[in-house]
Amino acid sequence: MKHSCNISHKFLVSLILVIVFKLFIYNGDFKQVANSIFLAKFRFPGNLEEDDEVKLPPKDCDLFNGNWVFDNLTHPLYKEDDCDFLSEQVTCFKNGRSDSLYQNWRWQPRDCSLPKFQARLLLEKLRGKRMMFVGDSLNRNQWESMVCLLHQSGVSIGKKSHEKSGSLVIYRIEEYNTTVEFYWAPFLVESNSDNPWRHSIKDRIIKPESIKNNGDDWKGVDYLIFNTYIWWMNTGYMKVLRGSFDVEPVEYVEIERPIAYGRVMKTWAKWVEENIDLNFTSVFFMSMSPTHIKSSDWDNPDGILCAKETVPMTNLSIPPPNVGTDHRLLRIASDVIQSMEVPVKFINITTMSEYRKDAHTSVYTTRQGQLMTPEQQADPATYADCIHWCLPGLPDTWNELLYTHIFLHS
Ligand SMILES: *[C@@H]1O[C@H](CO)[C@@H](O)[C@H](O)[C@H]1NC(C)=O
Ligand SMILES: *[C@@H]1O[C@H](CO)[C@@H](O)[C@H](O)[C@H]1NC(C)=O
Ligand SMILES: *[C@@H]1O[C@H](CO)[C@@H](O)[C@H](O)[C@H]1NC(C)=O
Ligand SMILES: *[C@@H]1O[C@H](CO)[C@@H](O)[C@H](O)[C@H]1NC(C)=O
Ligand SMILES: *[C@@H]1O[C@H](CO)[C@@H](O)[C@H](O)[C@H]1NC(C)=O
Repeated sequence: MKHSCNISHKFLVSLILVIVFKLFIYNGDFKQVANSIFLAKFRFPGNLEEDDEVKLPPKDCDLFNGNWVFDNLTHPLYKEDDCDFLSEQVTCFKNGRSDSLYQNWRWQPRDCSLPKFQARLLLEKLRGKRMMFVGDSLNRNQWESMVCLLHQSGVSIGKKSHEKSGSLVIYRIEEYNTTVEFYWAPFLVESNSDNPWRHSIKDRIIKPESIKNNGDDWKGVDYLIFNTYIWWMNTGYMKVLRGSFDVEPVEYVEIERPIAYGRVMKTWAKWVEENIDLNFTSVFFMSMSPTHIKSSDWDNPDGILCAKETVPMTNLSIPPPNVGTDHRLLRIASDVIQSMEVPVKFINITTMSEYRKDAHTSVYTTRQGQLMTPEQQADPATYADCIHWCLPGLPDTWNELLYTHIFLHS
């Protein structure tokens, strides 16, 4: 570590000399030059100024109420090129996206500030422990972000390993005896979508009171981060199993989405209460990640879904647009968690993410496992993915919030 710092310092000194030299030659505007020195200093990810403690906001500050500020000095927190752990699904810039401002926005809570993400401090906290993200592909999005955030500290991360027929994917960090894991369970409870590769996309059927099969694999984990939302959104009614998945034809009844969602949240809450000792384990629930499918939702007559958006909505006088988020589910999740006997932290990313019409993968992503072809890229009206998010990007902010809560509640 020391070594790389020295190199950065030397590099900085020569950079400053070059700039000062140029100043004499060109007699340029000094303020601008000073500014670029400042920028250069912050653009090295070698953590020149790593502090040894986290400057936490007050416990009662509402971190979820705030706005997006453009800040290319501190964001992105890592570079796309520097993180080999990102899947092709999220590397938008590499996949041909021509704008990159979506990487430069920092979340600013109204009444306080988020601490700087310091990977080494988080790694100390994770020493000898397991962290697991459980849920759908949006939680996988966040897991990939977390791996990159930790990696930019220079720590070495092992190859990805698949367990439990692929439902569980693990990265090991030997130096800290830590694992950062992702568990595929898009409804948390048992469903016919539990196989990460072969799952029914159209005919989703759940068993709202059955969670043990999945839950057994979550026991013993020290940091659990859950979500479930997007898989609920294709129909207004949810198919609930009657009997067994093993008996053909599979029988089900259709139940209104919020009712079925409430049943699942209660099953999950009961499982947490009965199986998790919160003296030793921290449990988080990520709220709904919104989509941006209709550009008329934010009054862009020339828009094509989210495909042409390059900036978030930043006018605080205007409430976030109605982009079709099912806020009933948000309230149910929040209510269930508040009524739990044990403290679970609800991370309310929904509203802040609703402003981020610019941050989706759009056509710079994969489709059925393949990078989109030029023909598909040219037809965003058919192919744009306005559900998932580019990395570096929005999910890094979700992890900044998670980071803050991990330190706030320990
Ligand atoms: C989530 O945060 C937003 C923005 O502060 C707030 O308006 C909303 O009420 C919160 N929702 C819940 C369920 O906490
Ligand atoms: C940061 O943004 C400012 C304002 O748009 C721009 O002038 C500057 O070149 C940017 N700096 C970097 C390092 O991208
Ligand atoms: C590594 O962490 C695991 C828990 O994840 C623990 O059981 C084990 O004892 C640790 N090993 C060492 C060498 O610290
Ligand atoms: C957890 O901590 C609480 C409060 O300190 C204590 O009352 C309780 O017995 C602890 N539970 C276990 C299982 O250790
Ligand atoms: C923000 O929105 C308000 C209300 O529509 C409008 O009056 C104001 O001009 C907008 N501000 C900016 C900077 O666009």
